[in-house]
Amino acid sequence: MADHSLTRKSPSVSTTGMRRILPVDMVERGRCPFDPPPGLRGEGAVRPLDLLNGARAWLVTGFEEARTVLSDARFSADKVRHRDATSPQPHKPAEMEAAVAEREDGLFVFMDPPEHTRLRRLLTGQFTVRRMRELESRVTEIAVEHIEAMRAAGTEADLVPAFALPLPSLVICELLGVDHADRAQFQARTAVGLNANSTPEEQAAARAELYAFMRRLVAGKRSNPADDLLSGLIHAAHPPLTDAQLVDVALVLLNAGHETTANMLGLGTFALLEHPDQLATLRADPGLIDNTVEELLRFLSIIQLGVSRVTTAPVTLGGVDIPAGATVVIATPEVNRDPRHWPDPDAFDLRRSRTPHLAFGHGVHQCLGQQLARIEMRAGLGELMSRLPNLRLAVPAEQVPVRDEMLIFGVRSLPVTWS
Ligand code: HEM
Repeated sequence: MADHSLTRKSPSVSTTGMRRILPVDMVERGRCPFDPPPGLRGEGAVRPLDLLNGARAWLVTGFEEARTVLSDARFSADKVRHRDATSPQPHKPAEMEAAVAEREDGLFVFMDPPEHTRLRRLLTGQFTVRRMRELESRVTEIAVEHIEAMRAAGTEADLVPAFALPLPSLVICELLGVDHADRAQFQARTAVGLNANSTPEEQAAARAELYAFMRRLVAGKRSNPADDLLSGLIHAAHPPLTDAQLVDVALVLLNAGHETTANMLGLGTFALLEHPDQLATLRADPGLIDNTVEELLRFLSIIQLGVSRVTTAPVTLGGVDIPAGATVVIATPEVNRDPRHWPDPDAFDLRRSRTPHLAFGHGVHQCLGQQLARIEMRAGLGELMSRLPNLRLAVPAEQVPVRDEMLIFGVRSLPVTWS
């Protein structure tokens, strides 16, 4: 029987589409590049949010309320099936309706239990302690190689293309088992999607090429399995996953793990350089690196408004009535600075006691790659600070361009110098 799974088009959900319908003060920064946008600040843990497309959503800025949204089954992650006010395509065509009646895609990030549970369990089984330990030494090697290449080239660099973007991209190559010979091609395509100057046509072409790349990768792993996540998934799943599901899973991992970690490395370095007292504390006691990583995740909360759900029933949240079918958006930067949860929440303090934050989400969709993300931040930032002891900005802080145009916050470039 012919395998049609490779030609079937998976339903896609665009989160960047949401950026276009958010009020400007919800995404644009005030004067400080590290504080939440002014529009997120304000009264009430839950409040209505009027989107530019005329739809109404609800914004959650309270820590406990956000935890409820992320752990209560009345808040659905299934934006493929539900009509979501933030979707660029709120009325789905009939063929899409038919395709999602029985979901056959691998976009588990947009699924609810029990559909989500099966794929999530298969994936969790691949994020083993052994694989993470092996990856940790590779992550350190990759970080060191890139820092040494920067040093060999002079005393100035743009940290984003030289370090922050390639590190997580290569780590995903390791995880998925992309051949060394194909990595430059893989990185070039992922970079187009992350470049704010790419045209929509260039982005669409890069997406199509990446999809074709992943199809070839999956086909290769089927015929030639190795010790990597994709090969493991192919052999662990009963009934087996289709090639289209495997491609979706690979793309989910790439999308979830690349831009996020890259921005935490770029913006995290910027935040450390702009808080010299904290940087001096870390340099004096490198054992504080784990605390530093957690405090950066809390303080910067780069996934600004990217975590959202749709209500499947009327709900009262934080004293506010929300109807069924409503989009509920988590304002992570505010949630992670809720004064009811942290004393002095706007202070960047790497000696802060380890109160859990929501930078990796919560509940069944809580970040699958958080252990890996922590390894990358620990190795990346730790090696940067120890190998470039004199690291500093090469331009005034106000000239560092931030990424207001993307849903995930960060810096577009970070000119640094050392001696
Ligand atoms: C510092 C970097 C990262 C941050 C801040 C981050 C943040 C998050 C958040 C907030 C969620 C929850 C989304 C939701 O509930 O709707 C999530 C989910 C996810 N993350 Fe991460 N992430 C990071 C790095 C990574 C890495 C390195 C990977 C893997 C290579 C990864 C893979 C995933 C996956 C697969 C999900 C979906 C899990 C599910 O739906 O069950 N993430 N991440």
